[in-house]
Amino acid sequence: MNPLPKEIEEEIQSFSPEVEAEIDRHIAKYPVKRSAILPIMFIVQRERGYLDAAGIAYIARRLDLTITDVWEVATFYTMINLKPVGKYHIQVCRTLSCQLLGAEKIVEHISKRLGIKPGETTPDGRFTLSWVECLGSCGTAPAMQIGFDYYENLTPERVDEILDSLKE
Ligand code: FES
Repeated sequence: MNPLPKEIEEEIQSFSPEVEAEIDRHIAKYPVKRSAILPIMFIVQRERGYLDAAGIAYIARRLDLTITDVWEVATFYTMINLKPVGKYHIQVCRTLSCQLLGAEKIVEHISKRLGIKPGETTPDGRFTLSWVECLGSCGTAPAMQIGFDYYENLTPERVDEILDSLKE
């Protein structure tokens, strides 16, 4: 097992037996431990709210990787949150189809309505706005994702309906 810096070692938390067992099941699916890195990142993010330094260190420990190995993957994927996000994480696609069909206008509209720019969270912690890469909904662009839900063929009016429908 790789040694970790003392301050990181102190921060590492283990999860409930159920979560540890869930992680074990993912590790057991692969011939090499490191292949389980993405599902385990999602579990750690779900449990801790985002992937912080202690979460990164925990994954490194569990998969016999270095902290750098885990950071390399964590910083590649926009679905891995490296800082806390709001209750509703609005992720607007900025890739070609969505750009051509008005993603900028959608983000401007959301920014104006919520008073935040991409990368920011509202002071009440309710919304975070982010740009992300292709969501795989290019045929129904522009598209955004809030949590695990997809919203497509967006217009400013449709965005207002969606935001109005979200519970407090
Ligand atoms: S380009 Fe936006 S979903 Fe693919």
